[in-house]
Amino acid sequence: MKTKVLMVCLGNICRSPLAEGILRAKVDPQKVTVDSAGTGDYHIGQAPDERSIDIAKQKNLEIHSLRGRQFQVSDFDEFDYIYVMDKSNYDNVVDLARDEADKNKVHMILNEVFPGENVEVPDPYFGGPEGFSKVYDMLDEACDRIVEKL
Ligand code: 4NP
Repeated sequence: MKTKVLMVCLGNICRSPLAEGILRAKVDPQKVTVDSAGTGDYHIGQAPDERSIDIAKQKNLEIHSLRGRQFQVSDFDEFDYIYVMDKSNYDNVVDLARDEADKNKVHMILNEVFPGENVEVPDPYFGGPEGFSKVYDMLDEACDRIVEKL
C-alpha cells in the first residue's frame, strides 16, 4: 500500500507547496503520495507564491501548477503522516482531530531534524526572497530525514 504524506501550513502558498515539491522529488511515486493544504481559507485555488515558485525553479523543481486547498477533517483518514510547519499550524490541525489516532498523525516537520525541539519553519510571506531560500534549505533537510524513515 502507498504511504500518503500531507504537508500543511497556513496559506498553502509558501511553505507547504515547497515541502510538497521537495518531498515528491525524493520519493518513488509508486510508493509515496505527497499533497499539501493550508489551515486557512485565504488562498484556495491559488498558485503558490511567486517567491516559492522561484526558489523551487532554482533547484530544478516545478511547483507552479499546484493549487491551494484547505485542510479538512477527512485528511486524517486519507493521510498517514501530516507534517505542519509551526506551532500555530499544529494547534489548528490538532483542534480538528477526532481522536488520539488522528492527533498522532500530526508532526512538526523540523522535529525530523531536531527531535522533540518543536523548531518552527518561519512564515516567509512578509519577508524577502532570502526567507524563502532559508525555508527551502530547512525543508530539504527535513525531507531527507522523512525519506529515510518512509
Ligand atoms: P504559508 O504563508 O502559510 O507558508 O503559505 C502564508 C501565506 C499567506 C498568508 C499567511 C501565510 N496570508 O495571511 O495570506
